[in-house]
Amino acid sequence: MLKKIALVAIGGLFATTAIAQSELFKADDLVKYRQSIYQVMSAQAKVMGAMAKGEIEFDANTVHERALNMGNVAKLLGETYVPATQGVKESNMLPAAWEDMDDFSAKGKAFGSALQELIAASGESDFDAAKARPAIGKMLKSCKACHDDYRD
Ligand code: HEC
Repeated sequence: MLKKIALVAIGGLFATTAIAQSELFKADDLVKYRQSIYQVMSAQAKVMGAMAKGEIEFDANTVHERALNMGNVAKLLGETYVPATQGVKESNMLPAAWEDMDDFSAKGKAFGSALQELIAASGESDFDAAKARPAIGKMLKSCKACHDDYRD
């Protein structure tokens, strides 16, 4: 059940265009909100990455929980990507992202798919460290792929 909810939620990542609620937020606050979401994602990624590398003991349930946590906050990112945030000086988003929103969104979707795959795989009873390594690695690479092009 939980799994299904998370999957649906990630599907909505970056479906920003018609989010009326965004108008409630100030641009400065939206950048703080966005950066906070990324901090929460980063903490989940750190634990999963450490398990994939064998730095801490592998535990399938923990990976599943951490992946779900990530999905639950990642689904909120879309509403922070409002054009008015371009002018916020604290933002480390490069102008290139706004100039090529199609590619930026594609990188967001690639991340969403890798995370979706990890959520699904880690919910299976045969999920082990050997299966976790490539699935976590793929998800983490999708973070870097976007940062390389679009983050200062
Ligand atoms: C589609 C692009 C994209 C993907 C995918 C992505 N990020 Fe980012 N990330 C950004 C952008 C853009 C910023 C800068 C946001 C800003 O400052 O306005 C950022 C900022 C961050 C920050 C700094 C937040 C702060 O406090 O300033 C962290 C940490 C981070 N990302 C972690 C991650 C992790 C971990 C993943 C994958 C699990 C990920 N990101 C996936 C685009 C992306």
